[in-house]
Amino acid sequence: MTTMDWSPKRVLVTGGAGFIGSHLSSKVLQLGANVTVLDDCSSGDSTKVPPGANFIEGCITNPEIRESLLNDADVVFHLAAIASVPLCEDDPRHSDLVNRQASLDIILDAGCPVIFASSAAIYGEPVSIPINETHPIKPLGHYGDQKAAVDSAIRSLGVGSNPATALRFFNVFGQGQDPSSQYSGVLSIFIDRATTNRPLTIFGDGEQTRDFIHVSDVISALIACAESLLELGTMSPAHGEAFNICTGKPVTLNQVVKVIDESIEGSLECRYEDERAGDIKHSSGDCSKLQDMFDWSPMISLTEGLSDLISNSQDV
Ligand code: NAD
Ligand code: UD1
Repeated sequence: MTTMDWSPKRVLVTGGAGFIGSHLSSKVLQLGANVTVLDDCSSGDSTKVPPGANFIEGCITNPEIRESLLNDADVVFHLAAIASVPLCEDDPRHSDLVNRQASLDIILDAGCPVIFASSAAIYGEPVSIPINETHPIKPLGHYGDQKAAVDSAIRSLGVGSNPATALRFFNVFGQGQDPSSQYSGVLSIFIDRATTNRPLTIFGDGEQTRDFIHVSDVISALIACAESLLELGTMSPAHGEAFNICTGKPVTLNQVVKVIDESIEGSLECRYEDERAGDIKHSSGDCSKLQDMFDWSPMISLTEGLSDLISNSQDV
């Protein structure tokens, strides 16, 4: 629920041509803000940038582009990243420049609030479930390391810095998530296959759990934190903090398959294959920190989100 007048605000969305960033850009445009998207389209797509947003095709590692856009912003949603774990592993030097170094530069150089897209990947293999924000940070690979470095820098900011917060997204799903690679989010792959009568592949026994959060709930969390930072600056309870963005209601892949099976016409074929190397067995977050601090709760259930995805795929 928004409480602020966004109409005079200049909003910079890095990664606004991507899955989450394009939804966010549409939402802040709807709220009346003046939106600029910075994206190099390495995994995003310029056609996803909503009409009405000012689109700059460029890289966040470019200091001139960064400086000029940061100078013109009242708030920055920093979502641009090499979000694929395998790509970060394949070229850790490059992913470090983008995911860690450029992100630190944005946080330190922005003269305005910054909301950073952190990740549940920073926790690594959970030692206790559900994972709350005090859980040890032990990422398993470069992507998690890079996100953890930025998340940690935000948590060390004092009152003399610009306001910033880190939102640790769990498994985000919703429309517009690319299903085309084997490393795409599992729900986008499953819906794509289920609605085109192709078998689903389940890696492992299907009893792994994930905490799937709908993209619209992620957007409302991003906006709630931005409003608080804009209104209260470094006195905001979000400043220098990190929050889990999840539902607290994990499900197994076998349960997901059952929901999809009940929602599609026809029968669903599943093939079980070996567990994927490096996979975490259970992921389940505790979102009470954000719930208690702000008027935020996840609103879209997995069943609702899946049936929306299925009906939209069947309409295409
Ligand atoms: P996405 O790949 O769809 O979006 C990322 C966007 O950043 C893309 O449009 C890409 O072109 C852009 N980008 C990449 N490198 C860039 C660069 N050097 N300069 C400018 N733009 C660049 O991914 P997403 O799922 O929308 O993720 C958004 C953010 O949320 C990312 O930071 C990601 O790490 C984080 N996150 C996502 C999830 C999830 O489940 N989707 C989970 C945890 C964290
Ligand atoms: C997700 C993120 C990753 C992050 C991690 C920890 C995505 C795409 N990946 O990985 O960036 O580091 O959370 O927070 O958002 N699966 C199948 N069949 C398929 C595809 C996947 O069984 O066709 C399984 C996987 O083996 C895994 C589960 O589904 O067990 C979820 O996979 P995925 O959507 O890739 O997400 P995470 O592995 O949780």
